[in-house]
Amino acid sequence: MNAQALGSLNDLDPNYPVPRVHEFLADPTNSAMLDYVYNDPFGCHVFPGDIEGYPLGQFFQDMDQEIGQARQIHLWAYIPTCRYRCHFCQYPTVILNPKAASSQQVFTDVVDYNIKEASLWLQKVPALATAQVGEFNIFGGTPSLLPEAELRRLMGFYRSHFDFSAATLRFEGEPGTLNKPYLSLLKELGFTKISFGAQSFDDRIISACGRMHSAQECVDTIEYARAIGLEWVSVDLIYGMLGQAVDDVKYDMEKTLELDLSHVVIAKLHMEEFMKTRTGVSGERQSHWQRKGLINIGDMTFPGLGKQYQMRELVEQYLAPRYNEQPTMYFHRQHQPPEKWKGLITNLDTQYPEVAIGLGGSSKCTRAEAINITGYNAYKQALDEGRLPIDQSRGVSPLHREVNAFKMALSTLIPVDDQVFRQRFDGRSYHDNPIISQALQGLQAKTLVRVDGEQVQLTPNGVTLVEAVINTQFAAAQA
Ligand SMILES: C[S@@+](CC[C@H](N)C(=O)[O-])C[C@H]1O[C@@H](n2cnc3c(N)ncnc32)[C@H](O)[C@@H]1O
Ligand code: SF4
Repeated sequence: MNAQALGSLNDLDPNYPVPRVHEFLADPTNSAMLDYVYNDPFGCHVFPGDIEGYPLGQFFQDMDQEIGQARQIHLWAYIPTCRYRCHFCQYPTVILNPKAASSQQVFTDVVDYNIKEASLWLQKVPALATAQVGEFNIFGGTPSLLPEAELRRLMGFYRSHFDFSAATLRFEGEPGTLNKPYLSLLKELGFTKISFGAQSFDDRIISACGRMHSAQECVDTIEYARAIGLEWVSVDLIYGMLGQAVDDVKYDMEKTLELDLSHVVIAKLHMEEFMKTRTGVSGERQSHWQRKGLINIGDMTFPGLGKQYQMRELVEQYLAPRYNEQPTMYFHRQHQPPEKWKGLITNLDTQYPEVAIGLGGSSKCTRAEAINITGYNAYKQALDEGRLPIDQSRGVSPLHREVNAFKMALSTLIPVDDQVFRQRFDGRSYHDNPIISQALQGLQAKTLVRVDGEQVQLTPNGVTLVEAVINTQFAAAQA
């Protein structure tokens, strides 16, 4: 067993109860899961294919066929510009001073290349032009740095080339840039949902992770948004960062309830390389904290795993009365629906295709997936040469389609229903799939899931450890 990981698990705050998962992770038979959570990547976002070197032509054909059949799709555009680089971040970013004259050309280029890429997608995958977009997301990076004229140009293109008749429009920003005029512009352009990273509501911790905004700016953004009728505001928080104590997460939870946030995404600090598991938006560079290691600064230390799980338990305890977690890490107010785009791509009865336009984006359907180039120069060069900037594509074999569908369904935290599964897979039960059935036996033995008639439900430990369940237990079952 990894002594470092075990030491980290035993780093506990004596003022809070020992977390529920401590006993499980300390058990030597669960050492693979302990190692995983000690060094975990963002594991739940993309479910990789098992056929490497999949021909691009076949990938487009699969996407075209499934997009043509899906009731809706998730479409997103990624804008990589940021005005600083946060110490935990591995996303592919282009750092600039938004006020510098030279940056204006960068914004124009980013939009030009995005439009060029989307146009190539429309050529390669004709079904995209008529598919109903369920949710359109502008992710980042920091899209809220885009000057008004560039944002209008980008939206004009998407509105006139895709079917937005049923689309929810969601926009990701950064609190220092989501001011009143910008929020009004978003509302005018049809956005009804905004999200941004706060990471914490404590200025000391916000600054220690390299961010250049205050907690008050986060509160102002939420209030401005409400004042102009943008009711749905999601805030990203992280636990496990430099200087963060369990008490600080308690403060963040009190603030979340006081602000009555419509939605909150709460992630454990992830340190492993994204590229190893081909996740959401893949980074080409390590984060600052990965490069330097978890070095304490002055009296600020990184909380160990034990404290991180004490933090996670506080999150559950504070949010349970008013919020539901669905999918993992995404908490929505009980009287409002869960995050739509996540449901479209991960719920067992949908799992519709998604198409990502932009640096490092990942697109997928059930038969194939692909990730974009993450280096900005190589990305631009591909588009200049008239090629889509796809770095790698993988196919998914029939057996793995079922495994991916099951793993994705687990990540939603909704019980996985065999009846729905059988409808999706021509009458095949998940028990008929040798990888799923073997994994389920192991998971039941570890009491991470309960099998109740036709339903598989994660136990409380299973919910806390769902990323590790998905990324270690099914791989172990395959080996
Ligand atoms: C790419 S950011 C987009 C939001 C926007 N750029 C901002 O920072 O305000 C999406 C979210 O991912 C989370 N995130 C990024 N890297 C992470 C890491 N290494 N560990 C945990 N969460 C991370 C942060 O909470 C961040 O707000
Ligand atoms: S977390 Fe957001 S603002 Fe910070 S560097 Fe990453 S993308 Fe940019």
